Amino acid sequence: MLYWLYNRLALMLRTRIKSIAHYVPEQIVTNDYLTKYMDTSDEWIRERTGIEERRYADKHNETTSTMGARAAEKAIAEAGITKEDVDFIIFATLSPDYYFPGCGVLLQRELGITEMEVGALDIRNQCSGFVYGLSIADKFIRTGTYKNILLVGAEMHSMGLDFSTEGRGVTVIFGDGAGACILQPTEDENRGILTTHLHANGTHAEELAMINPGSHGGYYLGKEKYGYPDESVPGGIFVTQKMVDDNLLAGNMTGQLVFKTAVTKFPAVIKEALKATGYKSSDIDLLIPHQANLRISAFVQKRLELRDDQVFSNIQKYGNTTAASIPIAMSEAFEQGKIKDRDLICIAAFGSGFTWGSALIRW
Ligand code: ACO
Repeated sequence: MLYWLYNRLALMLRTRIKSIAHYVPEQIVTNDYLTKYMDTSDEWIRERTGIEERRYADKHNETTSTMGARAAEKAIAEAGITKEDVDFIIFATLSPDYYFPGCGVLLQRELGITEMEVGALDIRNQCSGFVYGLSIADKFIRTGTYKNILLVGAEMHSMGLDFSTEGRGVTVIFGDGAGACILQPTEDENRGILTTHLHANGTHAEELAMINPGSHGGYYLGKEKYGYPDESVPGGIFVTQKMVDDNLLAGNMTGQLVFKTAVTKFPAVIKEALKATGYKSSDIDLLIPHQANLRISAFVQKRLELRDDQVFSNIQKYGNTTAASIPIAMSEAFEQGKIKDRDLICIAAFGSGFTWGSALIRW
């Protein structure tokens, strides 16, 4: 009987974003500044991406997990809880401090809550990382497993970019930063996360990727390009000399394929969320898309026939911060009074994998 009651209660729970916060490093890097290192221009970058500037972390003092911790501290304070109340950590990033362990445990240590020994989960879904993390957190909260989940999206892209002209197609797009939220249960069935939708298709996995370092060792993808690992031992150490010599340790992107796929998948996954809940695009108070590229967001806006005030953009100031972009944007939108109590908020992302997803939230 008690078990039945517990299950009934758990089913009635919804997940609420209790607080949202962000941290961006101080160092502003303008488009003009990048022209010192590569053949590019402010005009090219603004026209193709909408980006005017981005932030870079202080490489002597900051990492992805420390930036995540700064955002987390704010989110914890704004939720009116203490660090010790956090009962689960989810950390999404594609630029972790280490190859392993993931940033979840590093964040736990940076926050000084190791004694609690709460679980820490790392999400590797790139630009969709925050949406994937939110969906997982939602399931844990709804089943009554946790009461205060700390979800963090953070990136330190600046340490993984090629600053030569060869890397300009990727480098000009990305920036550093972190966003965090506290997720809690609510028994109010008319608010919180209403639905989440996750998708992936690995067909074009290498078209938006950082291939090295990795276990492929050149064998899977072509030794000519990636070099020969040491054949005198059974394994290897991830990086070959050729990868270093040929500058093959940064991310690569087939921009036009990403663009074409993104402008199809973004509207489709938003429509999927609307259909699941019976809403129309005109019901959305604010769409917060992953800040991939201003042109992609404009395309999505047009497809869904949304007004300017229904779509939030801040890529102009921060560039593409991947897993951090939605929580940073959500935090700024909240600070600017663009998210009000009971508003219908839609978030959607598309990125490397390819992976994509959406969520509808009654704030
Ligand atoms: N500055 C100046 N010239 C550049 C730069 C740069 N930073 N980067 C590329 N170019 C040059 C190219 O070398 C090429 O020169 P060429 O014609 O002499 O060969 C020319 O510009 C055109 O290159 P394209 O790659 O065809 O440029 P395109 O118009 O497609 O714009 C862009 C590139 C902005 C990346 C575009 O494809 C795009 O928006 N793609 C979507 C990808 C995206 O937004 N990714 C974000 C990360 S992934 C995500 O978050 C979903």
